[in-house]
Amino acid sequence: MKIFLIGLMGSGKSHWAKKLSKKLKTGGYDLDFVITSHEERSIAEIFAEEGEANFRKTESKLLRWFAEKKSFVLATGGGTPCFNDNMDWMNTQGITIWLDEPVQILAQRLLPEKAHRPLIAGLPDEALQGFLREKLEERRAFYSKATYHLKEGDINDRTFAKIIKEHA
Ligand code: S3P
Repeated sequence: MKIFLIGLMGSGKSHWAKKLSKKLKTGGYDLDFVITSHEERSIAEIFAEEGEANFRKTESKLLRWFAEKKSFVLATGGGTPCFNDNMDWMNTQGITIWLDEPVQILAQRLLPEKAHRPLIAGLPDEALQGFLREKLEERRAFYSKATYHLKEGDINDRTFAKIIKEHA
């Protein structure tokens, strides 16, 4: 089974990729980590040195490496679905699950680690929620193409077990 986890930063994609891949006894990956390993630089450095447009090219190229793999759970980056037809591509490969946590929760989680995330590093703390709300609206059309849309309260072991059963 190929599972792609999508959603805004801070929505728990990496956490669930680890957890689900263990449960499924399959590979668990984090696209940001694949990118930083391949580029031998942090995401912040890639953004600073090459700009977002080039980061998106690399991100899309490395995402397509997963065509070769038969089974995995991949935590994508928050912007991955919104560039280079990535969302449609992921949907042809396997199932996509949108982790749609409320913006207040995302902001709480992201505040302490803002500095490492190039899109929000320069924002004053009080602007974070507004920024995330805007991003969500910008990205909604892409995220909405997900096979499953999990909202607050649905993002738990029981829901994931049900999804896995449906695709076993
Ligand atoms: C981004 C999210 C980040 C990372 C990059 C851009 C975004 O990934 O890919 O900083 O555009 O939302 P996470 O969602 O894993 O934090």
